[in-house]
Amino acid sequence: DKGNHRHFMQKEIYEQPVVVAQTLRAYLRRMENEVAMPDMDFDLGAVRRITIVACGTSFYAGMVAKYWFEKFARVPVDIDVASEFRYRDPVLEKGGLALFISQSGETADTLAALRHARAADQIIAVVVNVPTSSMAREADLLLPTHAGPEIGVASTKAFTCQLAVLAALAANLARAKGLLTPAEEAEIVWHLSEAPAAMNEALGHDGEIEAMAHLIAPARDVLYLGRGPDYPMALEGALKLKEISYIHAEGYAAGEMKHGPIALIDEAVPVIVIAPSGPLFEKTVSNMQEVQARGGKVVLISDAEGIALAGEGCMATIEMPKVHPLIAPLVYAVPVQLLAYHVAVAKGTDVDQPRNLAKSVTVE
Ligand code: F6R
Repeated sequence: DKGNHRHFMQKEIYEQPVVVAQTLRAYLRRMENEVAMPDMDFDLGAVRRITIVACGTSFYAGMVAKYWFEKFARVPVDIDVASEFRYRDPVLEKGGLALFISQSGETADTLAALRHARAADQIIAVVVNVPTSSMAREADLLLPTHAGPEIGVASTKAFTCQLAVLAALAANLARAKGLLTPAEEAEIVWHLSEAPAAMNEALGHDGEIEAMAHLIAPARDVLYLGRGPDYPMALEGALKLKEISYIHAEGYAAGEMKHGPIALIDEAVPVIVIAPSGPLFEKTVSNMQEVQARGGKVVLISDAEGIALAGEGCMATIEMPKVHPLIAPLVYAVPVQLLAYHVAVAKGTDVDQPRNLAKSVTVE
């Protein structure tokens, strides 16, 4: 039931504050100011390497998590798409943690990769939205997302719930490694708890984003740029746009522009820059200005501070609330999804069932 929404995708975008809060409740003890995990029969603090494997949007959630695991828990992380991982003969030290991320829990390549890791004596952790799925059944550590059934083929609420679980896992890992003081842990709990309200605020910009869809809809190509955890968000933005609006889109690490893709820039290529204010902001803005100097039309997604510093000269800006960097990917997912959604609606494509795509990819 779509309720009063036009599409399942739109409904699922709007459900995010509620389902992310629901998911966080399973991984945070608010009263104690602690992060929490289900019981496990291995020592999380002894994990020395993490291998993340997933496909599509779930892979991008994993890419964001890599920044968190390295930053908070100082654990080296390897990440690959399942279709590559399963055939490349990866070097897996016995006792490593292999982490699989999947909405459906049935994606053929990810499931095969899981069995490959099992055979290589890895501890198997899975982040899945379907608790009865094959991946859930084969896990040593099951970390469910509580997004509820996701009907739209383009993943939205499952993605932000994956991010919520992965952020909590990063904090748990950091604590198990003795790298988190109680005060730091309390701060993480506090910031994560703020995510649903900030996502709600982001949804408040829906009308504005709808109004700018006509700026993107006629484009043949669109670029998305970001740095740090916003780099995978750029990849996710491009994937969302291409899969539902059929516009060719690419996500790039902002610093890679000058190594090739900047040759594509002209007035006809809109460039979506995902850049919350913070330590990486200046760097991304200088890449953005290189784009503008070549006639590129920029849509800047940032907060008030970022827009005040760099919004001038942009074709459009989308203002997000000022949030802690840890929760920025959850909040910035919202405008990225809404932009793809409204461009697709403007183009009249089948938003919930894009051509050639299946919700669950159970064949290789
Ligand atoms: C994109 C999308 C796909 C899935 C991918 C993995 O919007 O939905 O890229 O993310 O097929 O599916 P799961 O997460 O079920 O393994």
